[in-house]
Amino acid sequence: MNQVLVSAPSNIALIKYMGKIEGSGNKPTNGSLSYTLENLRTFVRLTEIEGGKDQWKLLVREDLEKMDLSEKGQQRFLKHLQNLKDKWGVTKNFLVESANNFPSDCGLASSASSFAALTLAAAQMFQKIHPQPWGEDKKVLSELSRQGSGSSCRSLFSPWAIWLHEYAEPMNLPIKDMHHIVVVVEDSKKEVSSSEAHKLVTTSPRFEGRVERAEIRLKDLSQALQFDDWHMARQIVWDEFIDMHRLFETSTPSFSYMTDASKKVLEECQKLWNKWQDGPLVTMDAGANVHMLFRNDQKKSFETYRELFKNEFKVLAFEGVKSDVH
Ligand code: DP6
Repeated sequence: MNQVLVSAPSNIALIKYMGKIEGSGNKPTNGSLSYTLENLRTFVRLTEIEGGKDQWKLLVREDLEKMDLSEKGQQRFLKHLQNLKDKWGVTKNFLVESANNFPSDCGLASSASSFAALTLAAAQMFQKIHPQPWGEDKKVLSELSRQGSGSSCRSLFSPWAIWLHEYAEPMNLPIKDMHHIVVVVEDSKKEVSSSEAHKLVTTSPRFEGRVERAEIRLKDLSQALQFDDWHMARQIVWDEFIDMHRLFETSTPSFSYMTDASKKVLEECQKLWNKWQDGPLVTMDAGANVHMLFRNDQKKSFETYRELFKNEFKVLAFEGVKSDVH
């Protein structure tokens, strides 16, 4: 029986993919830059089955969370598998089992990790049964993954990925092993999916100039991170997610992910930054939760923020891999 088990990480964009060229298989209107979240992963097990059709089931394992993939979600996932089968010329059918190692009820994006994991699992399986000369090329795999869900194309590279057009590529930056906090202020399912948000933002008057603003920030942030200018990086990252959320709020119809709780967390972050003139990079996705990234040498500050927010909110905190022990 042919079977593979593969996992892939999620990622958080610091320059956001928001707006896509309709009908292009998720080609973005602007480039994006992300940090890979190695601790937040989706596991996918693919098993060849006889006859019938492709199926999805929850992957049951003690260390993995139970997640509920809606009928629509399952169809989207299986459609991606079908695209991959067509690309490889594979006609066999498969059982797809998947699960995340992070709670699905905390509003964290799982489409990046899940589509990346499915792409990698399919590539591994299909290279065994119908090898293709490009079947292990990460750029080709990234491009294929993008067609399933845009942000997933960045999850194939670590710790930094830049995605300009067709596929993502690794970016070599000196800052590595950051500590990561997610303040989970809202754990219900969001009303507007990110795929819908991509469409709606184009109706905002602020969408004019958005591509240019994002491109300038992408260039400036790459430079700031390259030259260890943390203050500059933090300002750019902050401006960028605010810009994206303003697009949401000025779309027709307008919508918003930001809650009073998100605003409270953001204000607290701003206060602490003003006080210490240092702190984490702060960003938000198309959701209410607030992500914070700390340099490896900011372990103390990471702990302070974790303690501060955990009294009031659910906090997920992950230490950067190579954290120094003090
Ligand atoms: C706000 O990748 O979820 O997280 O391509 O339609 O699947 P689809 O959209 P998706 O969009 C993610 C948007 C974002 C920003 C980002 O990750 O860059």
